[in-house]
Amino acid sequence: MTRRNFLLNAAIAAGATLAGAAGAQTPAPAQKPKTLVAYYSWSGNTKALARHLADALGAELLELTPETPYPTAYSACLDKAKADIAAGARPALKVLPDLAPYDAVLVGTPNWWGTLAPPVCTLIENPALAGKKMALFQTHGGGGEQRCGRDFKRLAKGEIVASPLIVAGTRAAASRQAAAQWAAALPL
Ligand SMILES: Cc1cc2nc3c(=O)[nH]c(=O)nc-3n(C[C@H](O)[C@H](O)[C@H](O)COP(=O)(O)O)c2cc1C
Repeated sequence: MTRRNFLLNAAIAAGATLAGAAGAQTPAPAQKPKTLVAYYSWSGNTKALARHLADALGAELLELTPETPYPTAYSACLDKAKADIAAGARPALKVLPDLAPYDAVLVGTPNWWGTLAPPVCTLIENPALAGKKMALFQTHGGGGEQRCGRDFKRLAKGEIVASPLIVAGTRAAASRQAAAQWAAALPL
């Protein structure tokens, strides 16, 4: 090898080493936030909306199931819900996973007597939610938001990052696009 070629090869090798080192210092891409979509649904509408959101975000789904279910007959459910809300009941939930791994928890409720369904209150008051990003989605029977968003703000232990997604119960199954749009705008 001539002295000129030797110097050229050495310069190329040094360049490659530097490029390699620079590559090693490039920060890893930000990890996707781990999101939980947790909901209570008595007759399936909020469940349909929750599924759309979980699909849009690639999030995990958790159905909140009270240990003692609400009555299946509508008028009995109305009465029990009214009494529970008046009493500030926090029904025990059958299954509650470890919330620690989640960065964000989206919470779904039907509008019950103008406010959140009690099983949802049980979840959102959990101190394990402190510091997590949270947002509410709800379905209703014509009353719209009523006091749901306000009560969510008052009770939730996490940091609320968006206005609620509010969908009429009869439109929940057909609201895939609205759910995806709301989910895409969340600052997660
Ligand atoms: C106990 C109970 C109370 C309700 N109270 C209200 C209400 O105050 N305002 C309203 O708009 N809809 C009310 N609804 C209707 C539900 O919010 C609506 O049908 C919702 O989409 C049901 O969601 P789900 O199928 O996930 O249970 C009530 C329904 C039940 C069962």
